[in-house]
Parts: sequence; structure tokens; C-alpha cells
Amino acid sequence: MSLKIYIAGKFYDKADAKISVYDHGLLYGDGIFEGLRSYGGKVFQLQEHLRRLYESAKSIWLEIPISIEAMTAAVLETLIVNNLSDAYIRLVVTRGAGSLGLDPTRTSDPQIIIIADKITLYPPEFYEKGLQIITASTIRNHPAALSPRIKSLNYLNNILAKIEGLQAGCIEALMLNSKGEVAECTGDNIFLIRHKQLLTPSIEAGILEGVTRDAVIQLGREAGLEVREIPLTKHDVYIADECFLTGTAAEVIPVVKVDSRTIGHGEPGPITRDLMARFKKLTRGQ
Ligand SMILES: Cc1ncc(COP(=O)(O)O)c(C=O)c1O
Repeated sequence: MSLKIYIAGKFYDKADAKISVYDHGLLYGDGIFEGLRSYGGKVFQLQEHLRRLYESAKSIWLEIPISIEAMTAAVLETLIVNNLSDAYIRLVVTRGAGSLGLDPTRTSDPQIIIIADKITLYPPEFYEKGLQIITASTIRNHPAALSPRIKSLNYLNNILAKIEGLQAGCIEALMLNSKGEVAECTGDNIFLIRHKQLLTPSIEAGILEGVTRDAVIQLGREAGLEVREIPLTKHDVYIADECFLTGTAAEVIPVVKVDSRTIGHGEPGPITRDLMARFKKLTRGQ
């Protein structure tokens, strides 16, 4: 059976799911998105993802044509129609089709697109052995120019850093902000463990407020860790006892080498493993 894609209230076969080439989402990256995940038919932190979506919309003067309640129902219906229980869900809202030219007032009909597909998992060895990453030379977008809190369709900033990572043989790359502080990775937030404290850059560092990040901060507190959201430098990363990344697709994934420096003992540390287990329990109830 072909996947059914939700576009503006209707379902289309994957091959027929199309939007206009005049859509400003395509022409200018003028739109927003969310990446969500369902476990056993239940969407993890659905309301948190939708809150972020509607906040991103507000920030860019994009009026989403349906309510959060209707969006909740549309996401769940897309899973049901596709008979998916463990899925990755991509929710996109574009500015809609308009004339050639930036002016968003000349667009109409923001398009809501919901794709629910099978989740492609990272290979298990990434979780067992940990990732090696590099620091990209591409600086994370300056929050005063385009806030990284807006999950916009313009991901070139992250893509350029991702390319740097891939060219160095790494699936993730660390991005610094314009002050040279640690911000986040191209599609994941970063955490360090040092002296049994859980450290992560604060939102002021210019990062996406990750939904997984929030959940892991909570899990860290429940595990009795002191959680500190503070400015961090590359030096802090290099001397950390443990390091891991968080994201909807990656979940909690250990990092064992950064810029050729071994982190801790060069293997996923005990606190990282504990948080991975706690996250698994939270999402899958085991
Ligand atoms: C730049 C960036 N940072 C962090 C994350 C992790 O956020 P979340 O945990 O909400 O998936 C993402 C996920 O898409 C991202 O694109």
C-alpha cells in the first residue's frame, strides 16, 4: 500500500502528493516544520512539538490555518491512515503559493503537509560504541539575525556544517555560536557530564529548544544529577567525562571523540548509559 500524505486536510498517495512550485516554502524556505516520532502509536511529546510549531509560526507572521487541536487530530489521523505505530512524522507548514518575489502578503493558502513514514534508525553500533564528531567552521546562525529557536524550512546553516562533518567522516558536527561558545550539533542538542553534573548550553547560546533536550534535562534531575544550562567552550567538551547528543531521530546518542580528542575513557559512560535507559523507558515504557 502506498503511503498516504496529508496535504491541507486531504490524503494523497505518495506519488500524487504535490504542492505548487510557486510555494514560498520552496522558493525561499519560507515556512516551518517539526520532526516527531511515535512509539507504539503514541506520539512522543506531541503537544510540546506543536507548541514549538505554533511559536515558530508566530515569530515569522505565519498564520497556521487550523487550530492546535485540529493539528493534533491531523497528525494522529495520518498515523492511523498509514497503519503506522512506530514512525517518524514530518509536519511542514509552508507560506503557500504566491508570485515570484519575497513578499509574503502576495501568497495565499499556507500548506500543511504531514508525512508519516517508517523510522530509519541509526545503526546500533553508534549507540554501543559512540559517535566521533568534529567542530564545523560554519557558525550557527546569529540569534539576532534568524533565531535558531525558529524551526524554519531554511536549514542551510545546518546543512553546511553537516557537509563539513560528512567530509570528515562524521554523521554529526558540532556548531559554535558567533561568540565561539558551543551551541548545538546540526540536528541534535549537546550535553556534557563533568563531575557528575549534567551541562548543556542554554537557549541564549542560540540553539533550537529541543524537545528531547527538555525531556533529558527532566530525566537527569530525576536521576539526581545537578543540571546546569551554562556557556560552554570547546575546551569544556574536550575535558568532559562524558558527552552525548539528543534529538527526536537520534534519541540519546553517546559521543566518544570530538576533534580527535577522546572524551572520558573513549566509550559511552555510565551516566550516558543510564540516561539512554531512562529515555527508552520513557518512550517505550520498558
Ligand atoms: C538544529 C537542531 N537542534 C536540535 C534538534 C533536536 O530537537 P528535538 O529534540 O526537538 O528533535 C533538532 C531536531 O530537529 C535540530 O534540527
